[in-house]
Amino acid sequence: MTMFLPWRPVLLAGGPVPAIATSVTEAETLELQRLAADATQALEVGSAFGYSAIAMALAGAHVISVDPHAELGSHPVTGSLAVMRGNLDAYGVADRVTMLVEPSQTALPKLEPGSYDLIFIDGDHVEGTVIHDVEWALKLLRPSGWLCCHDLDEGTCPGVRAALDRLFDHPQPTVDTLFTYQLPA
Ligand SMILES: C[S@@+](CC[C@H](N)C(=O)[O-])C[C@H]1O[C@@H](n2cnc3c(N)ncnc32)[C@H](O)[C@@H]1O
Repeated sequence: MTMFLPWRPVLLAGGPVPAIATSVTEAETLELQRLAADATQALEVGSAFGYSAIAMALAGAHVISVDPHAELGSHPVTGSLAVMRGNLDAYGVADRVTMLVEPSQTALPKLEPGSYDLIFIDGDHVEGTVIHDVEWALKLLRPSGWLCCHDLDEGTCPGVRAALDRLFDHPQPTVDTLFTYQLPA
């Protein structure tokens, strides 16, 4: 079923913290946090203003966040670098999120294979880049680690469906537009 996910400000905690602009839904957030609670090392491709990185860090994971913050890709965002840094401080997770400010094409080949418990792909949503990011994620995950891809069957992101159809057998979202896949042990 096709969904259209609106960008809107979301609060990830109570107290004096800023709302963070995102299109990740509440149900997708809960699923990411459920997986992040069992993860020591998480990796994210596509961070924007920091919502998903902060959600995973609040659940207990250390997160490597990869985003050039340079208005690139199919869904460019503006001014995200300074806003994300401010959000990491405001939510008290700056020491649990390591920002790699570069595109996935240069960042992922430098990371240690087989060392991530959870990888969330939400970067450039064109087919070729999603294939690139997922193929690298499958190398970087440890056995039994979890891959999550955002925007499967989101109406403005046909490249995600095209890419996942080439890589998996009949992929379907588990929650809203979130595709999840566990690497074999
Ligand atoms: C949909 S937003 C990410 C939303 C974020 N995950 C959240 O929780 O709200 C997509 C992000 O991907 C980034 N991006 C674009 N091309 C990229 C690439 N090649 N590698 C990594 N990130 C990329 C953009 O800069 C943008 O911030």
